[in-house]
Order: sequence, then C-alpha cells, then structure tokens
Amino acid sequence: MNQPDNSNKIAIVTGGGDGIGRAVCLQLAISGAKIVIVDINEKKGIEIEGLIKEKGGEAFFIKSDVSEEKDIKYYVESTIGKYNKIDIFINNAGWEGVVSPLVDYPVEIFDKVMNINARSIFLGMKYVLPHMIRRKSGVIVNTASVAGLRATSNLIAYGASKHAVIGMTKTAGMEVAPYGIRVNAVCPGAVQTSMMRSLEMGFANGNDEEVHLKREVFEKATPDGRYAEPQEIANLIFFFLPSSLHNIY
Ligand SMILES: NC(=O)c1ccc[n+]([C@@H]2O[C@H](COP(=O)([O-])OP(=O)(O)OC[C@H]3O[C@@H](n4cnc5c(N)ncnc54)[C@H](O)[C@@H]3O)[C@@H](O)[C@H]2O)c1
Repeated sequence: MNQPDNSNKIAIVTGGGDGIGRAVCLQLAISGAKIVIVDINEKKGIEIEGLIKEKGGEAFFIKSDVSEEKDIKYYVESTIGKYNKIDIFINNAGWEGVVSPLVDYPVEIFDKVMNINARSIFLGMKYVLPHMIRRKSGVIVNTASVAGLRATSNLIAYGASKHAVIGMTKTAGMEVAPYGIRVNAVCPGAVQTSMMRSLEMGFANGNDEEVHLKREVFEKATPDGRYAEPQEIANLIFFFLPSSLHNIY
C-alpha cells in the first residue's frame, strides 16, 4: 500500500500517548502530518511529542481528560488557534473499566467508562465537525472494538460504550457525507497494549498465575491465534485517511 502523503495535514489523536494512538501518531508523523497529541497521561504524551520532534516532525501535546467537555473544547480550540483547520481526527482514547458481572458492576465505573469511551466520541465530533464542515473536508476515525459488535460477558460498560461508538459513527457519517467528510470506526480485537494486560489481570481476578492462561484463551479466540500489534491497527486506520475526492485526483 502506498504511504499517503499527509504533508500540511493537521491531525488530532486522542489517547495518543500509548498503544494504538501512539502507533497512529508515529505513522502520521512519518506521512508528514502535524499532530496534536491528546492524552490524560502527561509523561507519555510529552515523550511521544519529543520522539516525533527528534525525528524532524511537528507535534504538540495537550493534556486533556476526554471525559471532561471543557478539556475537549480546549484541545479543539487550541488546534484551531494554532493551525486554523483540522483535517484528520482520530477519536481513540478509551478505558476498559473493571471486569465484573453486571449485577455487581459499580455504577460510578459504568458512568466513567461511558464518559471516556462514548460521551467523548460524541463531544469530540461535536466540536471538531464544525471546522471540517466549514472547509467541506476532513476525515474522522473513531476507535470502537469487537466489543461493539458482539456480547462480552463481565464488561457491561465497555461493551455498551463500544456499541454506542458504532452507532454514533453511523449517524455522524450520514449527516456529514454531503459535506465531503467521512466518518468511520475501526473495531479491533485483542491488541498488544496495556489495556489488554489490564483486562487479562481483571479476568484472572488479580491472580498472577492465571494471567497467562487468560491470555491464551484470548489469543486462541482470534483467527491468527495471537494479539494484533498496535501498528496493525494504525495501518487499518490509515486505510481511511485519504480525505476526499479532490485530494485524491
Ligand atoms: N487493546 C485492545 O485490545 C483494544 C481492542 C479494541 C479496541 N481498543 C480500543 O483502542 C483504543 C486505544 O486503546 P489501547 O489498547 O491503545 O489502550 P492503551 O491503554 O494502550 O492507550 C489508551 C490511551 O488513552 C489514554 N486515556 C485513557 N483515558 C483517557 C482520558 N480520560 N482522557 C484522555 N486520554 C485517556 C491513556 O492515557 C492511553 O495513553 C481504546 O478506545 C480501546 O477501547 C483496544
């Protein structure tokens, strides 16, 4: 696959400090984009900003909690203040919550997962899209999950939030297609990131010896018998990036 040329493109990546988002930031930098890295983890965000700059790319980190509307407004306004446009929006930050049967699932964790994984997707698109509509150009990729496509026992909030991401992606895609803007979602299975390590631990009830057994179960459930690498999901996200017909021809 040809590497897309994203020179002069402005990209926002939420959850860009680690895992899939980190791989996307690095790939965007290689393709020439200027990247706004959004993450709640300051250390990781600054590290990836430094790595991109070290290699001659342009990036800046904004510390934000995507469960906070004011933080979402802030990263959008800061990007517009600096670059006056947003070409690519990777709405990716997420949190797994806890592993628990529905009847015991803590209400406050349910709300937190929905805020981080679903409400943030809505608010991110709500504040980014007016800037794309203004220019009749842009691409959004929301990170959903296979947990948005099928049942996942003991992850009621995570599963609900990812079903919501897919639903919102469909609604947004229909609404903004007439402006030449595309909205898609990716639905990864198990990916080799800290999120899967945390889920293994959760499904093993914190028992270190059980963790590798849980991992084996998860791996066997995949077609390849292994976790995907974050780079493989970044490649998939890149498939969606050529932004609009007038940019292709
Ligand atoms: N790892 C998997 O197996 C898998 C599978 C399917 C979907 N996903 C989805 O992929 C996305 C990325 O996950 P990952 O696997 O790279 O996980 P990760 O834990 O490696 O990275 C998630 C990033 O999001 C950031 N983040 C978490 N809460 C935040 C908040 N409130 N505000 C801002 N940033 C926040 C974290 O600091 C971290 O840098 C998530 O939406 C996740 O649900 C992951």
